[in-house]
Amino acid sequence: MMKRILLLSLVIVAAVSTSCNNSATNKNPVRQELFGNHKGKEVYLLTLTNKEGNVIRLTNFGARITWIEVPDKDGKKDNITFGFDEFESMINGDRYFGAVVGRYANRIAKGKFTLDGVEYSLPINNGVNSLHGGPGGWHSSVWETEVVKKAEEPTVVFTLKSPDMEEGYPGNMNIKVTYTWTDKNEIVLDYECTTDKKTVLNITNHAYFNLHGAGNGDILDHVLTIQSSAFTPVDSNLIPTGESLPVAGTPFDFSTPHTVGERIMDEFQQLKLGGGYDHNFILDNASEVDATLYDPSTGRYMEVITDQPGIQFYSGNFLKGTLIGYGGKPYNYRSGLCLETQHFPDSPNHPEFPTTVLNPGETMKSTTIYRFSVK
Ligand code: BGC
Repeated sequence: MMKRILLLSLVIVAAVSTSCNNSATNKNPVRQELFGNHKGKEVYLLTLTNKEGNVIRLTNFGARITWIEVPDKDGKKDNITFGFDEFESMINGDRYFGAVVGRYANRIAKGKFTLDGVEYSLPINNGVNSLHGGPGGWHSSVWETEVVKKAEEPTVVFTLKSPDMEEGYPGNMNIKVTYTWTDKNEIVLDYECTTDKKTVLNITNHAYFNLHGAGNGDILDHVLTIQSSAFTPVDSNLIPTGESLPVAGTPFDFSTPHTVGERIMDEFQQLKLGGGYDHNFILDNASEVDATLYDPSTGRYMEVITDQPGIQFYSGNFLKGTLIGYGGKPYNYRSGLCLETQHFPDSPNHPEFPTTVLNPGETMKSTTIYRFSVK
């Protein structure tokens, strides 16, 4: 107990004394510092410390999570998400590490969709498709930053105004993303979006996880569960065919625990098309926790809880080791995985999928939680 009080006071003292804008208080230890400048706007690094003394870092460039430092079963802390030491590397590095992705997470076939008889054309930035809201999507924007001083737990709000026809999408949109780092080691992500014109929207967070610690080996030994009875198979352009395929009896069945690597090399057409797992799992939404990830070697355990209808499970198949991350460690092939809570890819072209249409007067609200512990 004494140790915990001492540790807590040290954290608070550290947070208060290094704050550059006096935003840190005993109740709300968030440190905000200048990280760099992008397109004439200040980019901040925000360090959130919870009562357990665990730290996450965020930045308003792409409303990103850049650091999640949690203990293993022996209490040894390590950062388990992808990011970069330097501001320049972050700007020039992978576009999506930890970022909030919009207006449309994942792919829209051939960059085209129709709303009320009007065809919209989006930038093509992934083969023949439009990916993750286009090259100038929300991941590349500098968001407004607010540290919520009165919050019980460290809380940061990022807001963005996306103008009508930005990256080809209709409607002026207001986007608000609230990050809370709870004392139970949960990252709570609350999304809120409005539009003044009928539009489509699919928002997610694109954090990569490696529970060994970012840059420490691959994720093939991570044990995964996803509470999903069916997934949406894709064509050779990674566009959903429109079907829902039952996972039972396939390498896509994670309704009971399996390591990521156990079946990833199976002769299964969908794995060949995806280069591994790169698919939308339709959530059963029958239990509180939608997905879990466990690393037996460190004991680190992550739970994913969402109100979204799907999870894009991406096993890092396009990572090549060319990006150098924290401490000079490369992000190698399958050294990180994403569990992106979202609507289904290409829904605007699939009326059979849950709708992604947002109308004026409506507010899209959604919550995803990433909870960390040890087993
Ligand atoms: C997609 C992958 C893509 C990756 C880019 C994921 O959401 O499913 O196909 O390569 O994002 O970072």
